[in-house]
Amino acid sequence: MNRYIYNASDDALVAWNRNFTSRIGDGTGDPEEDYLSTLQLVAASKPDAALLEIGCGLGRIIRVMNHVGPIVGLEPDAERFRASFASLHDGERVQILNCTSTSYRTVHPQRRFGIVVVSMVIQHVPTTTCDRILRDVHDFLAADGLAVVATTQQDEERFTYQADQTHRRMDEFDAYAGESASQTRGIPVRQFSKASFLAAVRQSGLSVVRWGQFSYVRPEKVAWFAKWMGSRPVAIQDVATSQYAILRRAA
Ligand SMILES: C[S@@+](CC[C@H](N)C(=O)[O-])C[C@H]1O[C@@H](n2cnc3c(N)ncnc32)[C@H](O)[C@@H]1O
Repeated sequence: MNRYIYNASDDALVAWNRNFTSRIGDGTGDPEEDYLSTLQLVAASKPDAALLEIGCGLGRIIRVMNHVGPIVGLEPDAERFRASFASLHDGERVQILNCTSTSYRTVHPQRRFGIVVVSMVIQHVPTTTCDRILRDVHDFLAADGLAVVATTQQDEERFTYQADQTHRRMDEFDAYAGESASQTRGIPVRQFSKASFLAAVRQSGLSVVRWGQFSYVRPEKVAWFAKWMGSRPVAIQDVATSQYAILRRAA
């Protein structure tokens, strides 16, 4: 298997996020406020739980949930792994490892976590990898555990690339997403609908405790976004661009 490379930068997210609002209060705050406070609520309700984050990137979610423990963060991209390892890994309470959930499971098949988080990862991988990650969430989750999975949302499911919003067939997207070394049109972005996201998590043996959405397009930007994504303003004005689900193992 080729080494995985994440072909995007978190620096660009700060500017991009100015297009969105939380719809909480006056809308000038963090568009992810509802999601991040949900993560804090889950962590506060399970202070003794072990936390697994699959695809921890630069470690921002671990910082939000840092009062639980022990914590394991998995990151396959070498550069991003090095950054989060340098700032978070202590080799005891917090472990940051350069691997995917599937390779971690091979080494630790019996390990279970009270909290498992997959934050903004499953839209950037082939659909088969998405299914495998969600199956890993199920398998790693303790019987009384909670998982939080967050991803993209649009009014309909679409398969796109970051630098080219042409709608792709799923097989075309999968081939592109599977070759991270040659992604010349930016990172692959699967735009889930609410229905396709919930179908994917349920198919993995997870049941939904709560679903939420966050990062709404600001009213003055709706027309531009609708054109950009190949939709209509009326179809997207009340559909936030991201969604999350709190999950547990289905009975
Ligand atoms: C958009 S970033 C999100 C990072 C972090 N979870 C957050 O919310 O800030 C997506 C991350 O998923 C990682 N990733 C990609 N494929 C993965 C896989 N198969 N397993 C785990 N992580 C993966 C990428 O390297 C990248 O760091």
